[in-house]
Amino acid sequence: MALIENLIKDIADSRLRIQIATELGKLKARKQFGLVFEEHLPEIVQLPGLAVKPGVRVTKPGDKAAGFFVVTGVVNGKKVSIAPERGGTEQVAARDELVVVKRFGEPMYPALVPVGRVTRVPGKPYHTLISAENFHALQLFLYCYESRVDVIYIDPPYNTGARDWKYNNDYVDKTDTFRHSKWLSMIKKRLMLARRLLKPEGMMIVTIDDYEVHHLRTLIDHEIPGLSVVGVVAIKTSPSGRPTLRGFRTNHEYALFVATSDAAVIGTLPRSENQTALFKEADDDGAFMWANLRKRGGANTLREARPKQFYPIYVSGDKKVRIPKMEWDKDKREWEILEAPKRNEETLYPLGDDGKERIWSLGHETLRGSLDDIRIVSDKQGRTVIQRKVRASEEGSQPSTFWDKPQYSIVENGTVLLERILGSAQAFPFPKSIYAVADCLRVAGAAREDAVIVDFFAGSGTTMHATALLNAEDSGNRQCILVTNNEVSEKAAKELAEKGVEPGEPKWEAEGICEAVTWPRIRACFTGKRPDGKPIPNEYIDGRPMSKGFEENAAYYRLDFLDPTEVKRGEMYGAILPILWMMAGASGELEVCKGSGKHHFPKGSAFCVLLQEDHFKEFAAKLAERPEITHVFLVTDSIEAFNEMRSQVGKEKRCVQLYKSYLDNFKINLEPKYAD
Ligand SMILES: C[S@@+](CC[C@H](N)C(=O)[O-])C[C@H]1O[C@@H](n2cnc3c(N)ncnc32)[C@H](O)[C@@H]1O
Repeated sequence: MALIENLIKDIADSRLRIQIATELGKLKARKQFGLVFEEHLPEIVQLPGLAVKPGVRVTKPGDKAAGFFVVTGVVNGKKVSIAPERGGTEQVAARDELVVVKRFGEPMYPALVPVGRVTRVPGKPYHTLISAENFHALQLFLYCYESRVDVIYIDPPYNTGARDWKYNNDYVDKTDTFRHSKWLSMIKKRLMLARRLLKPEGMMIVTIDDYEVHHLRTLIDHEIPGLSVVGVVAIKTSPSGRPTLRGFRTNHEYALFVATSDAAVIGTLPRSENQTALFKEADDDGAFMWANLRKRGGANTLREARPKQFYPIYVSGDKKVRIPKMEWDKDKREWEILEAPKRNEETLYPLGDDGKERIWSLGHETLRGSLDDIRIVSDKQGRTVIQRKVRASEEGSQPSTFWDKPQYSIVENGTVLLERILGSAQAFPFPKSIYAVADCLRVAGAAREDAVIVDFFAGSGTTMHATALLNAEDSGNRQCILVTNNEVSEKAAKELAEKGVEPGEPKWEAEGICEAVTWPRIRACFTGKRPDGKPIPNEYIDGRPMSKGFEENAAYYRLDFLDPTEVKRGEMYGAILPILWMMAGASGELEVCKGSGKHHFPKGSAFCVLLQEDHFKEFAAKLAERPEITHVFLVTDSIEAFNEMRSQVGKEKRCVQLYKSYLDNFKINLEPKYAD
């Protein structure tokens, strides 16, 4: 641009000079800093499970050049007539050589088909694994979990050019000139949906390597409203390094920590041995070190972040500490101080060396109760400093941006760990180290014992395993929801095709990741037994035997699609039931129910359904006896009737109108940009 501007100055004809300068000005105003990439629409998905019937769009998976068709009629039980979508003559095709395809953006009506279950602790909520294309699963989650998720961890394909992922059913490799823009287009669509799942204090972690890290960062900064990167961590995943063609050995990957608001707080990590060695002092309660009572660090240590932790402390000449009486002023969001300092007392506020107003690490009530653990010292400049005892067992250390603990090794605690669990080698390429995932979750907010954690590129299921590990440490109730597709590896697909086995057939599906790796892993690590029934050998790094398993429950579903007219007629209650179950916290056994009764109160679950509107009175009486119910689904076509019943149920329960909310959701909950 600068060169062009200089050249313009040299144009002798003033009229022409001004005209060109004006046009360049317009161009500059339009040019944005950031990524320029194609949106690659529409993305399509093949759904071998769906019925080939009139009106649906189909393709011939065996003939890639054939394109798309619309089914125009039924010839007989085995054959249908199809018309090319772009025009041309109708033809007759065998149903079993066709597969239904859907474009992203077309309304689809999801259902969850139960596939498997592990129940180790009856009554405890279930983790969930869903075998699905994640774009559709994310749409479903917007129905069940909008603004309810604490942490999203994703490890999408890295787009290395090594045929590590598929776009519209084709591998994307080095020869694909649109490789980067296809990847960006794919990830953008999913992040646009995923961001809406997070609570204001929630955080998302995206792991990635050099191939896409810079594009991804720019994408998040410029293209995804509401998301901002709060930290980029390099994780040493391969201590010996992976050789590259150019001569460097790659040791690390990145984890981008992304927040939706300032309410997200960066969590701490357990201390390393070196850090623990800093706790040199000891008293009756154990090892400790002295640390400044004033917090230092990022935005969450500023007065605005926690105004209640900004208050005066009076320190007398004989080093006694006094906290004045005070009252909280809600409007001003500050303490009104009710006692002045005495003549021999100095007033200290948590002011940083940079003069900024920060906070004390303890609220005034907690501090009053722990004055024995406080001491007054002078710093090098002779200023009074309040220090408190920090125990080794207390909150961990602030995470750095370079993580190099040996347990992050992807080989030892990813590949080898998975081999031990499954009892077979090379089941899945590059599973993450369970300890690296656990630490990412801790930093992103999963320290909360009831955190809801989602991973929609789940692969071998490391994130659910890591969640169980965190729960075992503190008896937490974190819940993990995984989505991964049931992709068959390129090698296995070739072998199956040679045997004449096609996608959708049970033999094909049995070889997919979800079926052959993710669910067997979850089952094995929760029960402590490998798929061959033998106990899993070895221990976790905290000494817990792997054969002990975990006191956790998990349910496994396949995402399916429904015909909306059947939903409207109430014929699909059984297929929608697992969605209601998930929405209400996934607790209790899932019952088989066709929905033909007056109402349904599933045992042990936190939801109930009124199936016949005219039995509301009896339903309400039953509901009053079940205070643990949080979600009430009311089947009615009338919004007035729904509102009336809702007001009788009361505000403390979440009421949802069936099937209207379900049908509306999947019609309107599409990003308009991605609709056809
Ligand atoms: C890099 S791997 C994740 C590995 C995982 N973190 C682990 O430790 O095992 C990405 C996974 O996402 C799956 N995947 C890719 N695209 C997907 C999509 N659109 N929907 C669902 N899963 C997808 C792939 O099949 C692969 O298993």
